[in-house]
Amino acid sequence: MPENETTAPSLENLLHETRAFPPSPAFAAQANAQPSLYEEAKADRLGFWADQARELVSWSTPFTQTLDWSEAPVARWFADGQLNAAYNAVDRHVEAGRGDRVAIHFEGEPGDTRTVTYADLQREVSRAANALTSLGVTKGDRVVIYLPMLVESVVAMLACARIGAPHSVVFGGFSADALRSRIADAEAKLVITADGGYRRGAPSALKPAVDEAIGPKDGEPATTVEHVLVVRRTEQDVDWTEGRDVWWHDALERADTFHEPVPVDAEHPLFILYTSGTTGKPKGILHTTGGYLTQAAYTHKNVFDLKAESDVYWCTADIGWVTGHTYVVYGPLTNGATQVLYEGTPDTPHRGRWWELVEKYKVSILYTAPTAIRTCMKWGEDIPAGFDLSSLRVLGSVGEPINPEAWMWYRRVIGGDTAPIVDTWWQTETGAIMISPLPGVTATKPGSAQVALPGIVADVVDDEARSVPDGGGGYLVLSEPWPSMLRGIWGDLQRFKDTYWSRFEGLYFAGDGAKKDEDGDIWLLGRVDDVMNVSGHRLSTTEIESALVSHDVVAEAAVVGANDETTGQAVVAFVILRGEHADRASTPEGAEEVQQELRNHVAKEIGPIAKPRRILVVPELPKTRSGKIMRRLLRDVAENRTVGDATTLADSSVMDLISAGLAKPSAANED
Ligand code: WT7
Repeated sequence: MPENETTAPSLENLLHETRAFPPSPAFAAQANAQPSLYEEAKADRLGFWADQARELVSWSTPFTQTLDWSEAPVARWFADGQLNAAYNAVDRHVEAGRGDRVAIHFEGEPGDTRTVTYADLQREVSRAANALTSLGVTKGDRVVIYLPMLVESVVAMLACARIGAPHSVVFGGFSADALRSRIADAEAKLVITADGGYRRGAPSALKPAVDEAIGPKDGEPATTVEHVLVVRRTEQDVDWTEGRDVWWHDALERADTFHEPVPVDAEHPLFILYTSGTTGKPKGILHTTGGYLTQAAYTHKNVFDLKAESDVYWCTADIGWVTGHTYVVYGPLTNGATQVLYEGTPDTPHRGRWWELVEKYKVSILYTAPTAIRTCMKWGEDIPAGFDLSSLRVLGSVGEPINPEAWMWYRRVIGGDTAPIVDTWWQTETGAIMISPLPGVTATKPGSAQVALPGIVADVVDDEARSVPDGGGGYLVLSEPWPSMLRGIWGDLQRFKDTYWSRFEGLYFAGDGAKKDEDGDIWLLGRVDDVMNVSGHRLSTTEIESALVSHDVVAEAAVVGANDETTGQAVVAFVILRGEHADRASTPEGAEEVQQELRNHVAKEIGPIAKPRRILVVPELPKTRSGKIMRRLLRDVAENRTVGDATTLADSSVMDLISAGLAKPSAANED
């Protein structure tokens, strides 16, 4: 049974955007990407990728085979080659005499700074690799990383890569329960965490969640974790388990600064990253080494037009998400870039913090998410206007469709009307950017990711997998394997096949709706499955529903993503309370209390990012005769629209019941 129940995206509100911004001749002349790149890739796609792999990545054993697709949909790229990702990201730059180049300008939220050169990074990563080895971690062991945005986070990831131990980074905003299930699924041997991090002006804790996540719990035995390495960041008191817990600084101090990177096969697992699917259980997306690194470096170089000697690059994503993996760690470092790493939030201690950093470090390439751009729009353009942003020359967007208004604002207010914007479409599963304009080549259009990159083949198809004509809409698919594609779901090959490869024969089904405009350019229209996108974070409706029903008071729950001006979507939950608790919610105070309890419960089960914006207590849920919840109708309610066609409901009076109940004052509860 395929995991994705899909519904065709509506074609009613297709964008009618006609503006286009051709590259300036000056930009085009100096751009890394030239129009010939498309032709080269088209003429010999595999040869093109082999060239990229040889040019951008250093191999300890050169590969002779480019792609082995004989066991499709599990791809093998450059399979007889060997390499080490940390060597590529660090050592080779030092060996080439660029050890003094700044790799990372770190800026802590409280304002502390640290400048890390490639030579510094080599010493730190080597030490950390030796420390991991002395704690018993060897090639193939999984290491979970649960850290804030620190230099140590980058070092930890690279140290794992250096010894061939796949890392699984868990976003610091996830709860102990979410952390536990990820540790258990990956059977991790070691966890790297911190005493805490700074967030909105105050230290926040991380270690207690780890303590809770790894021990025995609710009758379940302790996890497979043998040691916890703890970075000291905030100096908060932490509980300590002797023999298990080790301070990062102690372990590194004891460790040698020399470490020989372990060459691994191109198909050796580099990392697992959990992401939400349409069921309650997150998927451990598996990426391997050679193909991933190749596409990370290729896209980072061409999509951002990186000039490693002169650019200062800043990707605002957290390392807990795939954007942080590919465009904070592996892409930029493999390309020898200088980048900014910022620990905190954009509004601490003031709403100009990001722009202050752009001015301070003369950032020339900025990569961020539409939700952040819309938030800045809301705060007003006076704030960025107070800083010198003239260093910016390329702007990127990722994570969700960017609306034309936000795109235009980004271009005018942040980009001084000149910097090209690259709207980059990709996924945790694709590993790297797949669809994006190329700066200097593509005439950009506000709101469209436009074209598959050279070497990538994307299409929009109808229900029968037929390519739609220009002007038509349907489902986004990828028709040819690509180097950084996921190699599977950790421990669940069948789910990998069912989720991505069963909807359309021989095509990768991305889960996004899309349309082609008259020029054949692609516009992304959002998910067509039960996956939500809140502030560029991927959340599963089913996962939040499971969290809600695991609370005593809830009998049934349905979750939808409602359109939201700033966050793209907002989580709205409809719950039916258990008989004995229904009375509690009958007064406004009682309802408020139940809603608060449920919100906290979701935060505990998954993490604060998954907290529903609104929780509506209802007497019934709209279901089809086969028992499937009609989320479309609930979305109408959540977005205050007239409820659409309800004729396929098993009981057509349900929507009247829901609407009548919600008319009562107690029901609305915006945060
Ligand atoms: C989903 C993947 C890729 C890094 C961040 C998200 C949506 C992503 C765009 C874009 C429209 C986008 C899609 C996709 N998405 N980028 N430029 N335009 N939608 O990674 O958490 O794996 O989410 O994000 O819906 O399927 P992710």
